[in-house]
Amino acid sequence: MKKNGSKETLLAHLGRSVAKRERIINTPVYHASTITYADVEDWENRHKNLYSEMVYGRFGTPTSFALQEAMSEIEGGDRALLYPSGAAAVSAAILAFVKTGDHILVCDVVYAPTRKFCDGLLRDMGVETTYFAPGIGAGIGDLIRPNTKLVYVESPGTHTFEIQDIPAIAAEAHKAGCVILHDNTWATPLFFDSFNKGVDISIHAATKYVVGHSDAMLGVVVMKEPHFAAVSAVTAMLGYCVGPDDVYLGLRGLRTMSVRLKQHHQNGLAVANWLESRPEVSRVLHPGLPSNPHHALWKRDFTGASGLFGVVLNDVPKPAVAALINELELFSIGASWGGYESLVTTCYPPRTAEPWNPEGPLLRLHIGLEDPADIIADLEAGFDRLNRARKAA
Ligand SMILES: Cc1ncc(COP(=O)(O)O)c(C=O)c1O
Repeated sequence: MKKNGSKETLLAHLGRSVAKRERIINTPVYHASTITYADVEDWENRHKNLYSEMVYGRFGTPTSFALQEAMSEIEGGDRALLYPSGAAAVSAAILAFVKTGDHILVCDVVYAPTRKFCDGLLRDMGVETTYFAPGIGAGIGDLIRPNTKLVYVESPGTHTFEIQDIPAIAAEAHKAGCVILHDNTWATPLFFDSFNKGVDISIHAATKYVVGHSDAMLGVVVMKEPHFAAVSAVTAMLGYCVGPDDVYLGLRGLRTMSVRLKQHHQNGLAVANWLESRPEVSRVLHPGLPSNPHHALWKRDFTGASGLFGVVLNDVPKPAVAALINELELFSIGASWGGYESLVTTCYPPRTAEPWNPEGPLLRLHIGLEDPADIIADLEAGFDRLNRARKAA
């Protein structure tokens, strides 16, 4: 597959060489642990190319090679590796660059289990983490120490959706010889061009928009060639690999990701705009809204918004929030996001670099592919229930 053409075109064609050879459309699902060899020379030679040659099931088959190729090419990386979850991709990517005595810089607004990993396993290993405020920009340079090995960002931030100035942070990180890792799950390779913005390692919870149907767990790390040795070595030592049926679901989801994301973008903004007009809402945390303090950076660096954003309500008692959420017809209460359906959760983000004291309850909405007019009607009925419960309290 030539690396030209728009991303939409590439999504329809990348990673299909084996399928095309077999004269079918989709890459077959290879169930394999043992791989056999023609002779001793073959056995010894193929082991030089783990994760791109068939050597043993854990190191991949044409099914996983197809998804690796598609994900790395769509994002403009050189190599990609697959993981059994987004959380596994996060931990493997960080572990590839640290050892006892090292220091890392992590944005305060990262996915909470990423934080737990830093404050748990990494701390126990003797790796120190400093959390920095999402608006730090080039100021990150002041926090870099001689033993700082990496800077980790997630833009926009989990639950509070701050956009970080990744090019400015990356420039400082690179000056000091640090690598910069980015959790690009929210934007996907379609809406944020990690490698053109200075990122070295782009991490995806492919469980979300790549799989896209809330039915499989999957992680992907995309990187430039110089980092492949370190990341693949850790991946092999940890024994991470993904079952072929889940890889297939990732490949299948990828083919429609651009149409789904365009709709999530449109629907999310329609609902966010409507929420801004509601008297029950204090702030909508969506960087695509012109009123959002992160809008200018989002516009500069991103080409779209996915369907996930936050809403801070005016202060109301908990039972009123429950009255709003519990009876919603189109929203399920559930973790994860990126599927075709709408979801809602309450959230309490942990923050240490900067205080987070919202004026009221924080909700996270994932706006699915339903008609936004129906979603708005569902939320409108929810606000009526919230107001009745507030008055009764
Ligand atoms: C931003 C982000 N990164 C990583 C993950 C972890 O992905 P997974 O649930 O596939 O382990 C999540 C999950 O919600 C997430 O929201």
